[in-house]
Amino acid sequence: RAQQGLKDYYRDYFPIGVAVSARDLTGPDTTLILQQFNSLTPENAMKMGPIHPEENRYNWKDADAIVDFAVSRHLRVRGHNLCWHEQTPAWMFKDANGNPVTKEVLLQRLKEHITTVVSRYKGKIYAWDVVNEAVADDSTSLIRNSPWYAICGEDFIAKAFEYAHAADPDALLFYNDYNTERPEKRERVYKLLQHLVASGVPINGVGLQGHWSIFEPTASELRTAIDRFAAIGLKVQITELDISVYPWEKNRRPRRPDEHDEFTPLLQQQQADQYKMIFSIFRHSPIGGITFWNITDRRTWLDNYPVPGRKNYPLLFDTNGQPKKAFWEVVNF
Ligand code: G3I
Repeated sequence: RAQQGLKDYYRDYFPIGVAVSARDLTGPDTTLILQQFNSLTPENAMKMGPIHPEENRYNWKDADAIVDFAVSRHLRVRGHNLCWHEQTPAWMFKDANGNPVTKEVLLQRLKEHITTVVSRYKGKIYAWDVVNEAVADDSTSLIRNSPWYAICGEDFIAKAFEYAHAADPDALLFYNDYNTERPEKRERVYKLLQHLVASGVPINGVGLQGHWSIFEPTASELRTAIDRFAAIGLKVQITELDISVYPWEKNRRPRRPDEHDEFTPLLQQQQADQYKMIFSIFRHSPIGGITFWNITDRRTWLDNYPVPGRKNYPLLFDTNGQPKKAFWEVVNF
């Protein structure tokens, strides 16, 4: 195992976090978490579906376990997330007869949800992903056509930040999204954020998720994105980092039965080079934190996604929890 953890190598730069589930905190990866990271993000436990399954019932178990662990071990916590189009329980958008609720009712429910969750962890969660992935993937519209948008128009975004700020004025409030280095999406996110800031919405930062691959982003795309968002006056964090060993543009082709998903020496080298490049940019950029999305290659959300049955190797620790070539490139500076 590495003698020092990532958090020690990067002490003078930024906190280094990892996305976890409650069961990671009592399992074989607990030692690795404590050795390597100084910040945690609940991978799923604080999303609306898991934490607020019915209108009058909250399920705090896993979220509390993660926050209690972090507080007792002096780790920071990023809360994830308060408003998203995925993992939102169906009841949120329906009245007792199964009809869509009005904008007024939906905003009242959003307010109740955000106030309850943020207040519970006030002082323990230093930053919240308030709105997640609200910008559309294609250029036909700025905001994604989700039930939030269909019922409220774009007002739900500003309101979510206002509710969160009222519940914990000291928490840093983030907008979080993916593909923010691709010029088209980057500019749409920029437009939204600039508008929020100009309207006086209490937003402090932008989370660039960082679900990247050995081929993207390029150094110049990454630098441009960070600089452009920082120029609005927002804090910039990388919130969900992993480097897929498969190019995203080829992800949609069907998987051939003879493919073996081996993590070849060539892929190991390409991944190490990509990690080296992005971290050298991070060290010279106004980046306020990096969070990896999962702990080791033993379990990652990219296993089976978007190609069913396919194994991926996107993290800095291998399937045995040992540091990979990419780890040594990241800490060797
Ligand atoms: O908990 C249930 C379990 O009871 C059930 O048996 C099982 C059967 O499928 O599903 C379990 O829930 C799954 C959950 O992860 C916990 O493992 C959901 O189906 C599955 O959809 C969910 O996937 C998560 C995904 O977000 C969707 O919410 C991934 O773990 C999580 O890594 C991923 O994270 C997102 C970020 O929040 C936002 N940015 C993109 C990122 C990657 O998609």
